[in-house]
Order: sequence, then structure tokens, then C-alpha cells
Amino acid sequence: MPDSLLRVLACGSVDDGKSTLIGRLLFESGSIPDDVMQTLELDSRRWGTVEGAIDYALLVDGLSAEREQGVTIDVAYRYFETPRRRFILADAPGHQQYTRNMATGASTSDVAILLVDARKGLLDQTRRHAAIASMLGIREMVLAVNKMDLVGFDPAVFEEITAAFRALLDRLGDIGVTAIPVCARDGDNITQPSMRMPWYDGPTVLAALEAAEPRHAVKDQPLRLPVQYVNRPDHTFRGYAGTIAAGTLRAGDIIANSASGLEARVVRIVTMDGDLRSASAGDPVTLVLDREIDISRGDVLAAAPLPKRAETIDCWVVWMDETPLFRGRAYQVMLGTSTVSGTITDITTRLDVDSLTESQVRELHLNEIGRVSIALSHAVMCETYETSRALGGLILIDRLTRNTVGAGLVTDVGAARNDLHWQRLDVDKAARGALMGQKPAVLWFTGLSGAGKSTIANLVEKRLHALGRHTMILDGDNVRHGLNRDLGFSEADRVENIRRVAAVAKLFVDAGLIVLVSFISPYRTERMLARDSVEPGEFLEIFVDTPVDECRRRDPKGLYQKADAGKLRNFTGVDAPYEAPEDPEVRLRTLEAPPEQLAEQVVDALQARGLIGG
Ligand code: ADX
Repeated sequence: MPDSLLRVLACGSVDDGKSTLIGRLLFESGSIPDDVMQTLELDSRRWGTVEGAIDYALLVDGLSAEREQGVTIDVAYRYFETPRRRFILADAPGHQQYTRNMATGASTSDVAILLVDARKGLLDQTRRHAAIASMLGIREMVLAVNKMDLVGFDPAVFEEITAAFRALLDRLGDIGVTAIPVCARDGDNITQPSMRMPWYDGPTVLAALEAAEPRHAVKDQPLRLPVQYVNRPDHTFRGYAGTIAAGTLRAGDIIANSASGLEARVVRIVTMDGDLRSASAGDPVTLVLDREIDISRGDVLAAAPLPKRAETIDCWVVWMDETPLFRGRAYQVMLGTSTVSGTITDITTRLDVDSLTESQVRELHLNEIGRVSIALSHAVMCETYETSRALGGLILIDRLTRNTVGAGLVTDVGAARNDLHWQRLDVDKAARGALMGQKPAVLWFTGLSGAGKSTIANLVEKRLHALGRHTMILDGDNVRHGLNRDLGFSEADRVENIRRVAAVAKLFVDAGLIVLVSFISPYRTERMLARDSVEPGEFLEIFVDTPVDECRRRDPKGLYQKADAGKLRNFTGVDAPYEAPEDPEVRLRTLEAPPEQLAEQVVDALQARGLIGG
């Protein structure tokens, strides 16, 4: 008898009858307390859509009222059990904008129920859900073809939908399907076999769930224990605490810190309820080892084969933000046990959920799924998702808003690149700067086209030059003639434009120079990337603050006129955004002072920070 817990993801929308199906499962498994049932009977009489009978959808929708009022519950979890097993059912909203929630639910589920309306067949949404569920490693699906009563219980309709679904899954990998014709409203084939569909001899939905295998025999995989903290109450005790992500561990086993490869023997497995002989995936434990092998939070204790450190990863990503995912943009990447910064180095293809073909793209838009390569700022212990859910799942976070903007899974790990080393050099930035008698810095001028960036930067450079400083200037228009001549003004191209110029600015800082960068640089994220690429204190963001109307009035290159006439697209301030700095080191209000005075203001700011002598 499978006494195990099964995690189930329910996909579909209210229109498909998902609430009714879930309500039935909860009710017929006896998981609804009496008082709730009484309320349900009353509610069904007043609000129900099923004449003279209980409307089970009200049960679930009633429960979900609490989540609508609540703030951030993305996925509603419902618990029920039968004599055979316990279930946790993740009820993810169906609409497209909720794909993220669906992905959250899928990443922890063993089985997905996909609900379709017999009259409508497979919808785009069904395909999307099936694709995401399979991407997130779900290998068993229950296809519930609902509202069979509305198609006269016709087996041909059921067969047709089932065949289309199997064809879809064939393209997604090795996935088991149980297709069941149901009428959730009346309870046909939910927990009781339907009298009205004698041609169907398969299991009911509940029976299919009872028979399903939990997805991972994670207990049989090699041990993975991410260390959450080192417990050291006094000098006599040192324990490494965490929850076992995969595998089984026995006292006496040899394990290694996968970061160093150093091995130790497990002496004790300590828990709240005393010591254990063995523990396995899902168990929180504290380990005591027979020797010290230098373990810190974030390390992964493991049995062979050890996970590796990766500096680059390839992954599938589901994009969840209104702003597309761009190549060249940096995000926070939560991967394995670490959070690091990661730059999108490539977006190769997008999965068309309709045809399940992949097409080449440069961006990923809301709800799109694509193959993405990421370069990590530090090597991170991780594995492919197939090997380990714990170390192979990732989340992308916007560095400014802190929103979760993407979720994904690792398909390939570029172990620390052996063919590419960081060359240590004896003459470094400080040495070069010292020879020139200066501290290197980046003066990053940002503002609209025509705001006066280049004019002021030019004056600042002249002043610095007169003071005997070694400088270099990078100007948008000029760099776009050379290094960045392949880039235009789409959002993706501007992101790449700034990524490159930030990298060049950093090289000049390493050369010991004071670098003046004069680019519109409209996005905060990329300016932050530029800031982070040099050391704290080396970067001054200088906002050349000129209202767009004034820029338009000056219009030194006649570009506003063109843009306003619709002859130039994506023009910053007209039909492309400019994200003004919130807290720049220097703000130059060009309406209030002439350029010479503003240039002085910059030189003063450099002096005040000790970047140049008085
Ligand atoms: S950025 O947005 O990618 O930082 P960058 O500073 O390199 O822009 O280049 C801006 C210069 O390109 C402007 O000063 C202007 O002369 C020219 N330009 C041409 N088309 C556009 C456009 N659509 N938007 C903004 N600037 C444009």
C-alpha cells in the first residue's frame, strides 16, 4: 500500500470545471468538516449553479475567497487523504498571467492533473501547462476530459482529445498519461466509476492519483545536503544543519564537502527527537563529523559523484515579467544554495507551446519559455535539474525591483571553464594609478539625447587634463561608430550597448584612468551593472537633468523633430523610456546654470571624494 505523500498540481481554469473537480475530490475523500458542509448546502441553494444539488465549486471558490483577500498567496494548497495515501494538491490559477504560479506549483509536484473542457479540447493554455509541467520534471499526468455530459458522453470526442494530448506529450519527453472522461459536476469518474460511460474501463481520478508513483525516488540518489547553518553552541559541539535534498545517509558514512572534495565520516545524525541511524531526502538533520574539513553555510555535503561548481549554465526559463528578458542584462540568480549575479549571455530559442517547435529569438516575453545561457559572477555548486531538483532549479530576480521575473531549470552545467583562466598580473590597477599619481574612477553621465552630456563631459575632461590627470572619454555616438556599430536602439540593443561600454570602462579603470562615459543609458539596471563592475567609490553617476521639452527645444541634431514626425522610432523620451536616476552622486540641472559651472560642480564632487587632489 503506498502510504506515501503525493503532491498533485491541478491545472486548468474555473471555466473548465477545475473548482468543481477539486471540490468533489475534497468532499468525497471526506476532507470537509461538517460545519463547512452545512454552509455549502446553504450556499448551493442560494448561489449554486447546479439546480437542486450541491455545487462543489463553491467549496473551493469559497475557500479561495480567503486567498483573494490575502496578499501574496500565489498557489492555494489543499490537503486531503484517503485510506491509501495523503495528498497535497496545489491549485494554480489558470489564466495566462498566472503562469508563474503554475510554475511554482509544478516545481514541487509529482503529478499534474490537466483539465480540459470536452467541448473545447486542448487549448493553448493546456499546451503551455503541459510544457511547463514537463519542463519542471513532472513525469506523470492525468488528463481529465470534463463536461462529457455536454458532448453526449461520446467516446469519439474523448478519444480525439486524448490522442491529441498524447501526441503533445510525445514531444515533451517520456511522460505517462492517464486520460479519464469525467463529469465533475455530477461526480462521474471522480471517485466513483461512471454509470453513464460504460465504454470507459480505466481508473477514476482518485484511483489514478492513488496509484501514481511519487516522482522521484530521491532517496536512491546520491546524497545531497546543502548546509543551512553551522551550529556551534560551544567549543564541544559543531554540527552542520540542513535538510537532505536527495539521497540517504547513515551514521558511519563517508561524505565530502563538494566545494573542496575533502572527506569526513558521519559520527552522529542529530535531530530534535534524538539521534538517528539513518535519514533521507526531506529530513532536517544536523551532522557531527569525525574531523574538521572546513564547511560553511551554502556548501553541499555529498556522496560521489560530487556536484560541481559551475560558472556558466544553460537552462530553460519561463519568463514572468512584463519587461522582456534581454541578452546582456544582469539578474540576481538564486541557484542551488547560492544567490549570485548572472548575465544573460545568450537566448537561443523560444519554445512555441502550440507547435512545440523552437524558433530563434533575441528576447523572451511574458509567459514565454526559452533556452537561455547565463554567465555567473561566481562559481556556484549546482547540477542539472534532471540530476537534482534541489541544485538544478533557479529563479531570476530583478536587481532593482526585487521581483521574481523568471524561473527555470538547469539543462547543462558549464563547469568552471578550464579553457579560460583569469590571468593574474603583477602590475595592477593600483600600481598603474600610482604611476600616474591618481585614483582611477568612472564618471558616468546619463540623460536624454540633447541634455548636454557630451558638452559637459568634454568640459570636465578639459579641466582634468589641465590638472594633469589622465583621462579617457567614451561617447555614445562615437562608440556606436566602432565597437557597437552592430547595435541599434531596440531595448535589447541598448542593454547590450551599455553592457559593452561598462566592460570597456572597467578596463580603463584597470588602466588607472579617470573614464568619462557619456551615454543616454536609459535603464537603471544596466547603470547598476556598470556601477557594480568597478569597486565601491570608483563610480559616480552624474545625471544630466534636462527636461525633455528643453531637449526638444535645443534639438542639436534635429532628431526630436524627426522623432516627433514619426520618422525616427524608439527615440528616448519620445517613444522609448528613460529611467531617471533616483539617487545619483551628482545631479546637474542644466536649466539653472551654464555648462562651465556644471563642469566645475563635477570637479568639486571628485575633489570632495578624494578622487583628485585639491
Ligand atoms: S543608449 O540609449 O544606448 O545609451 P547612446 O548614448 O549609445 O544611447 O546613443 C544615443 C545617441 O544616438 C543619441 O545622442 C542620438 O544622437 C543617437 N540616436 C539615434 N537614434 C536614436 C534613438 N532612437 N534614441 C536615442 N538616441 C538615438
